[in-house]
Amino acid sequence: MAIDGELAELVFEQMHGVIIVDTSARILYINKQWADLIGVDRNESVGKHVKEVLPSTKMDIIVETGKPMNSDLFEFKGHTYVCKRVPLFKDGKLIGAFSCEIFENMEIADEFIKKIKKLSDELDYYKNEVRKLRRANYSIDNIKGESKTIKHLKKQIYNAAASNSTVIVQGETGTGKELVAHSIHDLSTRNINNFIKLNCAAIPSELIESELFGYEEGSFTGAKKGGKQGIFELAHMGSLFLDEICDLPLAAQAKLLRVLQEKEVNRIGGHRSVPVDVRIITATNQDMEKMVEEKKFREDLYYRLHVIQILVPPLRDRKEDIGPLCRSIIDKLNYNLNMRVKSISDRAVYMLQKHDWPGNIRELQNVIERAMNKVNYDDTLEELHFDEFKEKYLERGITKYGKKSGKGRRFLENIVTQTERETIIRTLKLNAGNKTKTAAHLNISRPLLYQKIKRLGIKT
Ligand SMILES: Nc1ncnc2c1ncn2[C@@H]1O[C@H](COP(=O)(O)OP(=O)(O)OP(=O)(O)O)[C@@H](O)[C@H]1O
Ligand SMILES: [Mg+2]
Repeated sequence: MAIDGELAELVFEQMHGVIIVDTSARILYINKQWADLIGVDRNESVGKHVKEVLPSTKMDIIVETGKPMNSDLFEFKGHTYVCKRVPLFKDGKLIGAFSCEIFENMEIADEFIKKIKKLSDELDYYKNEVRKLRRANYSIDNIKGESKTIKHLKKQIYNAAASNSTVIVQGETGTGKELVAHSIHDLSTRNINNFIKLNCAAIPSELIESELFGYEEGSFTGAKKGGKQGIFELAHMGSLFLDEICDLPLAAQAKLLRVLQEKEVNRIGGHRSVPVDVRIITATNQDMEKMVEEKKFREDLYYRLHVIQILVPPLRDRKEDIGPLCRSIIDKLNYNLNMRVKSISDRAVYMLQKHDWPGNIRELQNVIERAMNKVNYDDTLEELHFDEFKEKYLERGITKYGKKSGKGRRFLENIVTQTERETIIRTLKLNAGNKTKTAAHLNISRPLLYQKIKRLGIKT
């Protein structure tokens, strides 16, 4: 869309410090605001060399060089302006230059610069945070427990850290595989370099390859200018932790295998190979062997990844660790939640040992946190603080994950009672506490409603 001269002039008049010159630096246009400020007659200025009107201007340099000055300081009558000067081209041919003020004075410019500086400080802060995230956040000291199996696990971690081979960490959900991966990097000589983690299950499959290998500029629509480093390049000399490795799509599996063999990466859309020295640690809670059988995971890659295999034991196989784990979880949560729970009683630990913990330590953490919210300041966790847990698992009679014992009937009764109680409370509220209306609403007699309210301990 073209705009007419009148409209363009209207716009120019709203701006500050507008001058347009031709290729010989003669004034074609000067806006009223600027002419008034410098004290010249607009009509008389047109046709004059710009230096004649404004001796300190650099507009003549712009038409000579054809290069812009995007934010230059301009001194006039003891006042400093920040201005922009740009050459004007038509069909590739220089036809003149244009200048306008960006900031009316240095105070405004200063304010703007302060704003930018604040944003850039914030950006630095977040960059630093990302850098911190890239380091291993846990060390072997975070792995609690004194059982034989935990001691054996720690020995395996030390051995893996001393080697450079690929490690696979396997185990059920919540057993601490991530802690193991961090600890291996932290104990290795690579610990001064990056620890990069990629959760293969959390990232959309179409992005995995560009995340792993990076891409060159213009390799696909939306590719960032200048291209992007992949995490292999970022983890160079450090460790790359590929979590949930079984979720890596087959196409990416083939490419990963190639990198492991050749020790170099090719960015997407790139023609050169970048050598990388990366230690790979992977983890999964899935049955990898079955996936290989079902051809969902490449067998050749499976062998490449299984050079060092670490199996993290489930909590039910080391129930003697429950006590020390509870105490360490209480310490951690006291700190995180600003609480002061003293400890946990032996009886409560004994009770927790009766459960099989399908969610392992993550589940134990949740149960402890819930109980901690029930005790008073400075108290010890007792059996009674775990009523929800007892109700859900022990009284329901779940001894193995998913299996119910003979106490199932009581469990059903509990649900029925609870639902009945909740329904009555809700209906009472709906009828503003009016029992006649509530009884009618529930289609029961008033005396029966009274009976139920009493039996279920409902406060009216
Ligand atoms: N031995 C341990 N000592 C103390 N805390 C532990 C231990 N093992 C695990 N945890 C804690 O339990 C939680 C779960 O651990 P983690 O995330 O490492 O499990 P995971 O094996 O990777 O599970 P998933 O397969 O679900 O990803 C974390 O908060 C972790 O800090
Ligand atoms: Mg994990």
